[in-house]
Amino acid sequence: MKYTRENEQIENLCELAGALEKRVKTVKLQIFRIQLTVMKETGTIRVIICRRECIEPMKVILASDHGGVNLRREVADVLTDLQVDFEDIGCDCESSVDYPDYAIPAAERVASGEFDKAILICGTGIGMSISANKVKGIRAALVHDLFTAKVTREHNDSNVLCMGERVIGPGLAKEIAKTWVSTDFEAGRHERRVSKIAEYENK
Ligand code: RB5
Repeated sequence: MKYTRENEQIENLCELAGALEKRVKTVKLQIFRIQLTVMKETGTIRVIICRRECIEPMKVILASDHGGVNLRREVADVLTDLQVDFEDIGCDCESSVDYPDYAIPAAERVASGEFDKAILICGTGIGMSISANKVKGIRAALVHDLFTAKVTREHNDSNVLCMGERVIGPGLAKEIAKTWVSTDFEAGRHERRVSKIAEYENK
């Protein structure tokens, strides 16, 4: 292709589009679709930026009990790297606390719509998941491998991720958190199944 000023501009715009797409994939902003059209007659480039959906970035609430403090800090680093907007509600203490005191308020803030998702960590992840799942509208998944991290988002539209600091190492946990926040719900046939859970909750 002959090098022209227009070509250079297209390259720059494609780079921008690529960077935005990458950001979309990473933090699920899903904001824009960029369409580039070269107007041959005039030699100009038309750029159409279409808004796909609301420009609300994903908001995550993060919490742990004393058994999950260290892993919670590692997960906070992952969310920071991914530029995910998150609030860390503790606990900050090294002394013993009760996991429902963290799981339930965090889950309630997801159920109310204040946050899109929660990541909850305790020693096993079990106490956090049992507690969070008591809150109407919450689909908490206890995850310790990459396959279920991905599939629980695709199939269950899980809105809470629970992990156990005493179960897995930080390397795997960080990859799980990354996969979970950046995987979309597949909807389709899964929508019907998830709706049945909501129907039961609303009886
Ligand atoms: C706390 O010792 C521990 O029971 C808690 O972190 C969690 O594993 C409960 O499910």
